[in-house]
Amino acid sequence: MNILITGAGRGLGLELAAECLERGHHVLAGLRRPEQPSPELRALADQHGERLEPVRLDVADEAGIAELAARLSGQGRQLGAIVNNAAVLEARQTPIERLDLAFMESTMDINLYGPMRVAKHLLPLLTEPGAALINISSEAGSLTNAYPGDYPYTLSKAALNLLTEQLSRVLAERGAIALSVHPGWMRTDMGGEQARLDPRESARGIADLIERRVEAPPGFRFVDYLGRPMAI
Ligand SMILES: NC(=O)c1ccc[n+]([C@@H]2O[C@H](COP(=O)([O-])OP(=O)(O)OC[C@H]3O[C@@H](n4cnc5c(N)ncnc54)[C@H](OP(=O)(O)O)[C@@H]3O)[C@@H](O)[C@H]2O)c1
Repeated sequence: MNILITGAGRGLGLELAAECLERGHHVLAGLRRPEQPSPELRALADQHGERLEPVRLDVADEAGIAELAARLSGQGRQLGAIVNNAAVLEARQTPIERLDLAFMESTMDINLYGPMRVAKHLLPLLTEPGAALINISSEAGSLTNAYPGDYPYTLSKAALNLLTEQLSRVLAERGAIALSVHPGWMRTDMGGEQARLDPRESARGIADLIERRVEAPPGFRFVDYLGRPMAI
């Protein structure tokens, strides 16, 4: 399977790239600066050779994404999975009275418009049999469990969950699935050192969902990394 992952240079994106490579897939690793790969990504390239294909992908840059899509399309390439993983967590724990709304704009630009830009230009290539669109979401985007904080992040993830529902209906027509996946609280730059979960463990679960070894139950397309339903 050809698997494209945004934000593949560190955190969950990097671990998912490593997991998918170990399972024999071809990984298009979306990076803002492919000319400056992290040491971890370089090590993966040494280990897996051409099956790791770094591609320039800044989710805020629609022209760049369109260019990537045109290049892949010109090469007759197909994708089996797109993982919208890149995200930011800004203005953390800021009360609404002190919230600078510029953070709403910058967070929406990455966490919601980013996956929208990727879908707009790359979904036409998601044509391998059994294909999957995975939007990495968060329990923070649950309406049921809403908490008063992290406004830009939580609102962006709630909106992303709706986008997933919408796109799942489009993709169903071609036998592909779309899922919003809560990856768990992970030890990454975003999750911090106190987090319980190794991001590789989350990556294993997400790879199982991509390969459809684990099927998400019917209902809303919001699940955790083990495919268990999340409260919308
Ligand atoms: N960590 C957690 O506990 C947790 C919990 C729930 C959900 N999540 C979700 O899981 C996903 C991965 O999180 P993480 O913990 O791995 O985060 P992270 O360690 O902060 O990494 C964020 C990734 O996003 C990339 N990125 C940011 N802006 C970008 C842009 N404009 N274009 C392309 N890439 C961009 C970063 O690339 P650069 O290296 O170029 O900055 C980096 O690869 C996110 O969607 C996050 O919301 C995480």
